[in-house]
Amino acid sequence: MAESMKGLTRSYRCGELGITNVGETVTVMGWVQKQRNKGGLIFVDLRDRAGLLQILFEESICGTEVFEKAAKLRSEFVVAVVGKVAKREGAVNENLATGEIEIQATQLRILSAAETPPFPIEADSKTKEELRLKYRYLDLRRPNIQNNLILRSKITSTIRAYMTGEGFLEIETPMLCKSTPEGARDYLVPSRVHPGTFYALPQSPQIFKQLLMCSGYDRYFQIAKCFRDEDLRADRQPEFTQVDMEMSFVDVEDVIRVTEGMVQKVCKDAIGFDVQLPIARMTWQEAMDRFGSDKPDTRFGMELVNVSDVVAGCGFGVFTGALDNGGSVRGINVKGQAEMPRKKIDALVEFAKGYGAKGLAYLSVMPDGTYKSSFAKFMTEEQLEALVKAMGGEAGDLLLFAADKNSVVWAVLGALRIEVAKQLDMIDNSKFNFLWVTEFPLLEWNEDANRYVAMHHPFTMPMDEDLQYLDTDPGRVRAKAYDIVLNGVELGGGSVRIFQSDVQEKMFEVLGFTKEDAYERFGFLLNAFKYGVPPHAGLAIGLDRFVMLLVKADNIREVIAFPKVKDASCLMTEAPNVVDQLQLDELQIALNLVEEDHD
Ligand code: AMO
Ligand code: AMP
Repeated sequence: MAESMKGLTRSYRCGELGITNVGETVTVMGWVQKQRNKGGLIFVDLRDRAGLLQILFEESICGTEVFEKAAKLRSEFVVAVVGKVAKREGAVNENLATGEIEIQATQLRILSAAETPPFPIEADSKTKEELRLKYRYLDLRRPNIQNNLILRSKITSTIRAYMTGEGFLEIETPMLCKSTPEGARDYLVPSRVHPGTFYALPQSPQIFKQLLMCSGYDRYFQIAKCFRDEDLRADRQPEFTQVDMEMSFVDVEDVIRVTEGMVQKVCKDAIGFDVQLPIARMTWQEAMDRFGSDKPDTRFGMELVNVSDVVAGCGFGVFTGALDNGGSVRGINVKGQAEMPRKKIDALVEFAKGYGAKGLAYLSVMPDGTYKSSFAKFMTEEQLEALVKAMGGEAGDLLLFAADKNSVVWAVLGALRIEVAKQLDMIDNSKFNFLWVTEFPLLEWNEDANRYVAMHHPFTMPMDEDLQYLDTDPGRVRAKAYDIVLNGVELGGGSVRIFQSDVQEKMFEVLGFTKEDAYERFGFLLNAFKYGVPPHAGLAIGLDRFVMLLVKADNIREVIAFPKVKDASCLMTEAPNVVDQLQLDELQIALNLVEEDHD
């Protein structure tokens, strides 16, 4: 039977007590981690979010009634204990913050009994994640997840303090919106009052924050929930949180300065890491050329080398064919791996194909200086030597090449570089390498739609010197857009916004919107711009990703209290789920389900 805590007031959290409290009588409450009955003595490890604390029940001190109650305790019972803090008689536990002390209990109340949990609540759980997520409320008791969420809370309060100090106002924007322009699929919410119409959940507060600039709020920030119906990955959730900001009367440098200050403060407060400012910068073009990625992981080398000039005119059709089609041939040098077994190389070829490669050509510079290669027979000795030299190849190196159009070559080698580095354990996990990637292309050609799409979003300002090409050669226009990257993960991104209606109209034209389309979708923003708009710019950081990287978790779920799994469902609540017919009737919604193919 559950007892009441009437008359008892908790004086400390379990993990807050230490040697300085010896002699004090305290009241602690928490969950039983473990109970050990050693005959005349019963030891209980009591747990709360601050840590573990050893409680000692000794019959001669606590009396028979309390002792017998203590004998009944099992894991996850919730109890209140009154007792005196004493120096431990037995061995000190150096792994525990409270390891030098214990509580000599005098009172015990069982506030709640507990069934045996489906898995033990312990830091390094070997339990399958599916089970943990089904019982997320138990999983959340585990100290490592608790510490992640405690750190996350600390980070958001640091951010609030920093942003407020920089003159930003925290303003909330709606969740029930019209479709927003970030380019993923929307989550829709049907309207009951206006049957047949839908709200879209915001993919970001983008338009609202720009409107707030029009309204004179000058500096806005928000820790904002965003929703995107896209395929999930380790660093993607359908709902996630942005640290979103927008500033008036600014350009690229101002946004970068504020963001750097925030990132530096967060890293210092959260994990004691000093970020050296200014953060390194690289243009998008350089990032692609050197790393094959717009979010380069700069913790290791193995950079891409463009060997197009070297292989031009050689006898290997795969290479020359790619060049003839306007593509390129590039490679990476995997140092010291010339003797990588064929099976492993084949696996890398398969990996490359997963990123769109038609194949992967390789050349091993054997320790005796001879070459072993999938294409050597198509080249002269001189051509091979020139190629090896261009790659900085030495005896013992493995050279891997991709030949295709640039976008494919970059995607393949960019991913391969990381895969190989992981396999060979080349990445120093103690590093936090921040990087700005700047001067993104404004537009990206979309094969399926057969038109340009905005690389960031349609309100992004072209670079001043490229504005002239917006009509004639849109593909070469660079944008005032920037991403902040941490250890090869896109942490955040933003841009200077278009604030001149003629430029905005031209941008919509290039994107293939008619004026009517543009007004239909974003009319309120375009209209707002007619009434006096300040130049403005902003950025959003992915908070979940930031916390994930700071705690070195390998999945964003580890830093989100109630995350979704790969198919966007919640294993605990079983959302999404069917709703009552009555609810559908009210919304005037009839289902038209297509039989799923289960082959
Ligand atoms: P963007 O689309 O680049 O920019 O998003 C900003 C940052 O949000 C994070 N993020 C995500 N995190 C988890 N799960 C997701 N599905 C997800 N999608 C994005 C990333 C990303 O860098 N409105 C613009 C910002 C601006 O221009 O000011 C925007 O949303 O860390
Ligand atoms: P093939 O002539 O198709 O047998 O290819 C010869 C070698 O070139 C094999 O090692 C292929 O994996 C490789 N290869 C094929 N296509 C490409 C490509 N687009 N880029 C790089 N290597 C390729």
